[in-house]
Amino acid sequence: MRPPAQPSIVILTGAGISAESGLGTFRAAGGLWENHRVEDVATPEGFSRNPALVHAFYNQRRAQLKEARPNAAHAALVRLERAWPAEVLVVTQNVDDLHDRAGTRNLIHMHGELLKVRCGLCGAVHRREADASRETICPACGRSGDIRPHIVWFGEMPLEMDRIGEALARCGLFVALGTSGNVYPAAGFVEQVGPGARTLELNLEASNVSSRFAERRLGPATVLVPALVEELLG
Ligand code: APR
Repeated sequence: MRPPAQPSIVILTGAGISAESGLGTFRAAGGLWENHRVEDVATPEGFSRNPALVHAFYNQRRAQLKEARPNAAHAALVRLERAWPAEVLVVTQNVDDLHDRAGTRNLIHMHGELLKVRCGLCGAVHRREADASRETICPACGRSGDIRPHIVWFGEMPLEMDRIGEALARCGLFVALGTSGNVYPAAGFVEQVGPGARTLELNLEASNVSSRFAERRLGPATVLVPALVEELLG
């Protein structure tokens, strides 16, 4: 008799997975919003009011990112993706590139990417490691004047929601990792899995939506994630 097929896995990650790489989380004291109102730096209205301030905020975060390295939790997810016999999809709310640098291939950046900017004139998205401003020239259309960070701000639609919804509906295991469950739609993904799917939360403390998971483990990501991956592959 053939062994039962292994189920596909969806892993939602949040700022907690990057905390041990030195990147601040959003809602912790001293988090990234300190000194900035969310309305000013993370909404389309804030950008219209003061594009220079918003670009300066993301330029600073882009510079911080260069100092950070992927940690053992990012590495364990790469190991899982490579060794698991079915699909492993990592959906991250993080705009950092630590999953990419660790080597995760099947990855959705649902809230955009810090190292990309978007042209409001032609819609092209391109990689940008250096500082950006509204006047940065778009390499696709050659014009300047409407460059913005490729970040999903409050009030905007996260990216690739159809693909995420399909993956959640057919997965056998959903893991939420390092996210406080404050921001939707990601906080509601646990409700979108199909019947019979296993749901597991890994976080430093119980999240806002912890009770909707069948299982939870509390601790740092660099301990919990390698242990889970060993368990799944073992
Ligand atoms: N290991 C595991 N979890 C951790 C660790 C760690 N080392 N350090 C912190 N955490 C947990 C915190 O306890 C918290 O519950 O990670 C969570 C981080 O929560 P938030 O700061 O709210 O970040 P996140 O949930 O990713 O935010 C979601 O909100 O502001 C928006 O768009 C932004 O993508 C972001 C979204």
